[in-house]
Amino acid sequence: MASIELPKPETDSSTSVERAIATRASRRSFTRTPVTLTDVSQLLWAAQGVTHVREGTKMRTAPSAGATYPLTALLEVAPEGCPELEPGLYRYASAHHCLESELETAIHGELTRAALDQEVLRDAPATIVLASNTDRTRQQYPDHGDRYVHMEAGHAAQNVQLVCESRDLCSCPVGAFSDDDVAAVLELSARLEALYLVPFGHGTTDQ
Ligand SMILES: Cc1cc2nc3c(=O)[nH]c(=O)nc-3n(C[C@H](O)[C@H](O)[C@H](O)COP(=O)(O)O)c2cc1C
Repeated sequence: MASIELPKPETDSSTSVERAIATRASRRSFTRTPVTLTDVSQLLWAAQGVTHVREGTKMRTAPSAGATYPLTALLEVAPEGCPELEPGLYRYASAHHCLESELETAIHGELTRAALDQEVLRDAPATIVLASNTDRTRQQYPDHGDRYVHMEAGHAAQNVQLVCESRDLCSCPVGAFSDDDVAAVLELSARLEALYLVPFGHGTTDQ
């Protein structure tokens, strides 16, 4: 499986957290300008990157119940969505901050259809898919595991939206999609379940 190195994540910017919170909004209209590998790197790191090691565990940018870390961030790239990446699907390997190629063929149209043909998916150059191996959390929290992974997806998606603000990118969290169709398009293993899609790109000025 081909592995693609990502630029080292920046942990600083000229946008304050407060500013990013104040300007954050879900924006659904994108220009055709592609995103860069640096954009991809920053957003995937914001979603599920590693920040530090605690007692042998690689801790991530978003909190996780009992540090069980059930989430995997996938990246779908549209044709001409990112000049440094072929269209297809990639898995973000948090521990190594790199991409592993999962599907080396464009799935953009199929993913859009699986998300109920929403224009926000169709027009975005790239989409982060937050998927969960919920058993990891259920094993530790049989009663609340399902709830916890949904909360964690929210944390990760918020991080992505805030970093989009600091990079002048637009994004929209998308929860309306067919579970079965998304799983089929992404060829997800039985262990993984897609919870949230976050399409992103350069926004048009009318929003
Ligand atoms: C769980 C969840 C699911 C959502 N699903 C969609 C969606 O499928 N399509 C969409 O266009 N927006 C979706 N949104 C975005 C909401 O419409 C948006 O957050 C809301 O209108 C508030 O606007 P704001 O995000 O700009 O503050 C979703 C938001 C959340 C929290």
